[in-house]
Amino acid sequence: MVRVILKAVAMGLVGAAALADPVAVAPFAWPMPAWMVPPHVPDDNPMSAAKVDLGRHLFHDARLSRDSTVACASCHVQALGFADGRPRGLGINDTPSTLNVPGLANVGYLPALTWANPHMDSLEFQALVPLFGETPEEMGGAGQEVAIFARLAADPWYRTAFAAAFPDRPAPDLFTITRALAAYQRSLIAVNAPYDRYKYRGEVDALSAAAKRGEQLFFDHRFECYHCHSGIHFTNNLRTARQPQGEVGFHNTGLYESYPATAPGLIELTGRPEDAGRFRTPSLRNVAVTAPYMHDGSIPDLRGVIAHYAGGGRAPGHPQKDGMIVGFTPTEAEIDDLIAFLESLTDRDFLTDPRHADPWPPGHPAVATRRMPAP
Ligand code: HEC
Ligand code: HEC
Repeated sequence: MVRVILKAVAMGLVGAAALADPVAVAPFAWPMPAWMVPPHVPDDNPMSAAKVDLGRHLFHDARLSRDSTVACASCHVQALGFADGRPRGLGINDTPSTLNVPGLANVGYLPALTWANPHMDSLEFQALVPLFGETPEEMGGAGQEVAIFARLAADPWYRTAFAAAFPDRPAPDLFTITRALAAYQRSLIAVNAPYDRYKYRGEVDALSAAAKRGEQLFFDHRFECYHCHSGIHFTNNLRTARQPQGEVGFHNTGLYESYPATAPGLIELTGRPEDAGRFRTPSLRNVAVTAPYMHDGSIPDLRGVIAHYAGGGRAPGHPQKDGMIVGFTPTEAEIDDLIAFLESLTDRDFLTDPRHADPWPPGHPAVATRRMPAP
């Protein structure tokens, strides 16, 4: 419910600012082949190279948190596909999150953000949750907005960068910060995995024989993976620039007999009993580097995920379990092949791409002063 309230607040503070967005000062080129359709971009936040670069700096800047210790990038680490390697996130003052940190590859294509909230429909709104949310606190900025904006305004780099990205409205505030963060996140495109090269570029040798066999299994009726992990990003949640409405898919995979009040799934927002334990189907791009898995990080590795599905869910009797989760009996060789296929969805260039990387030099006040304890 808190998320709904936060969204309403966001509409007042951010969405209602009906200012026309400034003309993009530099064109932005999507880092993808020309035939691919880019993600949906809201009319009031067009992409520009200056805005994306500003967003990259903000994303990696710990000064956005109350005490300058936590950046977005503290929990969303590029080398880990912008996940964090922990079962659940860890925010300001080591405050634990209730949920696993999702990776952010191709996040601009998702019409419903976070694990189970169909109303969280834009990256601009979503940024307010880590920045100012209080249940749990992630960056702890609630009530500190003025101080945080002043901190950024005092930085000479930002003075130029905000002016370049938002010529008509160059001050660091909710409007500009959330839009720049969103533009940067929309630029996080990962479509150069071995599987892409094999499937879309005709590079027949880009996949190992094991991964090719695993592909067959993934798209087979016995395993049923492709029903929910469908389409270009291996999720039935998609909104491209050509789609006026996004497609969304939430499912109960039979993880638990009963779900805790802190992470009950879609039912938290709808109140409908049939939505218990239903979570958004995650994309499987870069999945090999975003362990541990599931909304609560309760499965440590891909082998464990396959065991979960093979058993028809860890709680096979859950009344709301999706009809596609039927269970199957894989051989060891089939498990290895399926894992080889999932590993072929990792875009290695994305994990080190300097266009997405932390731009701040060591020792700069933007750098998080507290290193996160190891997962
Ligand atoms: C304390 C760790 C933490 C920090 C800091 C953090 N996040 Fe997250 N992020 C999470 C967790 C946990 C989730 C899943 C939340 C949920 O499902 O409700 C998440 C989800 C997201 C999502 C949704 C992804 C998806 O697949 O739907 C986006 C986008 C995102 N964060 C962006 C940001 C931005 C931008 C910042 C900085 C302003 C940030 N995060 C800071 C932990 C963090
Ligand atoms: C009925 C729809 C459905 C089917 C069928 C399905 N999945 Fe999933 N998958 C989901 C949902 C929903 C989640 C998130 C569940 C949660 O967190 O409670 C998920 C999570 C995952 C994850 C964890 C991703 C992450 O980032 O945490 C992996 C890996 C995965 N599925 C692979 C598979 C494979 C392999 C198959 C086939 C054996 C499969 N899935 C079949 C819907 C499905």
